[in-house]
Amino acid sequence: AVENTQKHSADIAIIGGSGLYQMQSLTNRRNVTIQTPYGSPSDDIVLGELEGVTVAFLTRHGQGHKLIPSEVPYRANIYALKTLGVRYIVSVSAVGSLQEHIEPLDMVVPDQMIDMTKQRVSTFFGEGAVAHVSMAKPLCPALADILERAYDKADIFEGACHSQATYVCIEGPQFSTRAESQWYRQMQAGIIGMTNMPEAKLAREASIAYATLALVTDFDCWHPTEEAVSADYAIKNLMKNAENAQKVIKEAVALIAAELPNSIAHNALAQALVTPVNVMD
Ligand code: ADE
Repeated sequence: AVENTQKHSADIAIIGGSGLYQMQSLTNRRNVTIQTPYGSPSDDIVLGELEGVTVAFLTRHGQGHKLIPSEVPYRANIYALKTLGVRYIVSVSAVGSLQEHIEPLDMVVPDQMIDMTKQRVSTFFGEGAVAHVSMAKPLCPALADILERAYDKADIFEGACHSQATYVCIEGPQFSTRAESQWYRQMQAGIIGMTNMPEAKLAREASIAYATLALVTDFDCWHPTEEAVSADYAIKNLMKNAENAQKVIKEAVALIAAELPNSIAHNALAQALVTPVNVMD
């Protein structure tokens, strides 16, 4: 069903990854079904209020976690959020740690990304519409700064929050080999996940500010003494992480609404090479 999205809108969206399938404190929930030229998003988008601010929540893997990372309809998801008027996306994502000082149950607000995915369409452009947006800073620094401050306000007792880390995105769904894991460490990557690319690229093309709140579940498989990651191992920390993440998101939403209401800093296409038409505007 195609709903008239005109009556539904939100400035801020949360994309929930593994473990975060709903936001418990969202009030006055409305489910919105949106169809896009790229198919259906992962699920209905849930609009609701958090701290008095309307937010859109989308579960990345769909109801009952039925989509593997390669199957997530990234373009439909970003397009659907754009049609709701979303200008800020907080991506909440489970990750493994590639560094000794980043431990399970910690959070990370990365500032760089490496895209190692292999089989995902990672642009809205093509078929005559050409644009090359900058990915020099793949994550919005202003939004990332808000996530870090939100963490400090959230009173979380376990773990720590790290910034200035590089997120490497693999295709999955398998975890990495030990040789790959060690190679990513040589690249100076700090955390590893399977979903934030091409999400961040598509958000940039859509001129939506995007930042990641990464929730550490494991040490991947490079560590000499820690257990190598398995699904069972990662799941152990997912629920605790999701609980803590919701506290951070609540603070972040209040800060975004207070500080960035009229920001025009995210018009990525203004500086892009675009011919002959701008398909997102
Ligand atoms: N998500 C959580 N842990 C991960 C890991 N070790 N590798 C890739 N994605 C992950």
